[in-house]
Amino acid sequence: MSNSPETPEQSGLILGIETSCDETAAAVVRRGTETLSNVVASQIATHSPYGGVVPELASREHLRNIVPVVRAAVQEAGITLHDVDAIAVTSGPGLAGALLVGISYAKSLAYALDKPLIAVNHLEGHIHAVLLEQAELPKRSISGQPDIAALPLPLPAMALVVSGGHTHLYLVRRHGESWRYRNVGRTVDDAAGEAFDKVAKLLGLGYPGGPWIDALAPHGDPGAVSFSFSQIKAKAHRRGEPGALDPAAETFFSFSGIKTAVLRYTQVHEMATGIEARRSALATRSDAKPEDALPLCDRQTLDLVASFQRAVVDDLRLKTFRAAEQFGAESLLVSGGVAANRELRVRFTAEAAERALPIAVPSLALSTDNAAMIAAAAYSKLTTDDFAPVTLTANPSLALGNAAGQARNPI
Ligand code: KG4
Ligand code: ZN
Repeated sequence: MSNSPETPEQSGLILGIETSCDETAAAVVRRGTETLSNVVASQIATHSPYGGVVPELASREHLRNIVPVVRAAVQEAGITLHDVDAIAVTSGPGLAGALLVGISYAKSLAYALDKPLIAVNHLEGHIHAVLLEQAELPKRSISGQPDIAALPLPLPAMALVVSGGHTHLYLVRRHGESWRYRNVGRTVDDAAGEAFDKVAKLLGLGYPGGPWIDALAPHGDPGAVSFSFSQIKAKAHRRGEPGALDPAAETFFSFSGIKTAVLRYTQVHEMATGIEARRSALATRSDAKPEDALPLCDRQTLDLVASFQRAVVDDLRLKTFRAAEQFGAESLLVSGGVAANRELRVRFTAEAAERALPIAVPSLALSTDNAAMIAAAAYSKLTTDDFAPVTLTANPSLALGNAAGQARNPI
């Protein structure tokens, strides 16, 4: 038996760093399949009074947190920085200043330790949050027998990445050691999570809005208010135009209209006084939790919240399953902050069961931003020597994969 030391691909220890928005996160993951540590410092308390992320404050908090968060991730993993085989960092999309804190720190670590640097797209990270947990599940199985949910997802998979900044559909395939992504759907305006955040804000609820609406919706009637989504066929995408995308091939989401519809509903039904009373009551409590808002909501508000959530979840569900069918996906995965939504999980899982389509959603901890997903996504780049140059910089609008209808490198 050989006693030669493991190659970086064999030990595959990657330190991941994520600072694209309002969480400073670091994690150590082995071979993209085993989480040794996953540390997240949330900035919710900093941004909460403003009802949204303030970019300058986010950068300042990342600067304050990055060193202790990385140190904690390395300590919890029971390793030293010298043991890692590569440093992976989110290079985009996200807030420029926030991304730069993680990138600068990752670059200096890589330089000082003489380790390769790997750039990871945040959206690819969200997809790998699911793949990482799928790989970990058999190890967690109590019986020792992998249960059906723990079997690897058959590919290609349709991935819905749905968060505060993104609502994208990707067809995901494996190509040798690497992963390929084809972007087959996107929002033309707001992301779904942004709609949750804006609706919660205009109803006088806390930030970020998703968990508040999630907690209140079960107490209302989801059929009370009907919302409709326009069918978007942007002019540039009409069939037959030179260089146009095939309209059958791309799915469009739009969530800015529903936010305006909720606002109009509150105006027509003169809900302003109740909203302000709720906002003031919650503002007096810095530790207010979503459940605390329940006694502050009347039936009309609860019905509105439930109807809004049902409409968004149904729109995501209908379009995602239609795209899965259209592109012959063998499985489905849902990731990003909004994947934490309970109604979304229940309704997606029920429809997947009806269609006998395997589905995976991440645990709550890996639904929202974290660095384990960044370290996991980096592993195939380590094994293929896909390293970042020392000139790596932030790309706030970094895209993932090639778009539907683009014939180059079809997957
Ligand atoms: O992935 P993430 O942590 O950050 C981004 O990349 O944007 O997602 C944050 C988003 C926020 O818009 C938040 O309101 C939403 O995810 N979110 C939820 C829930 N938990 C977080 N939306 C609906 N239901 C939830 N339970
Ligand atoms: Zn995210």
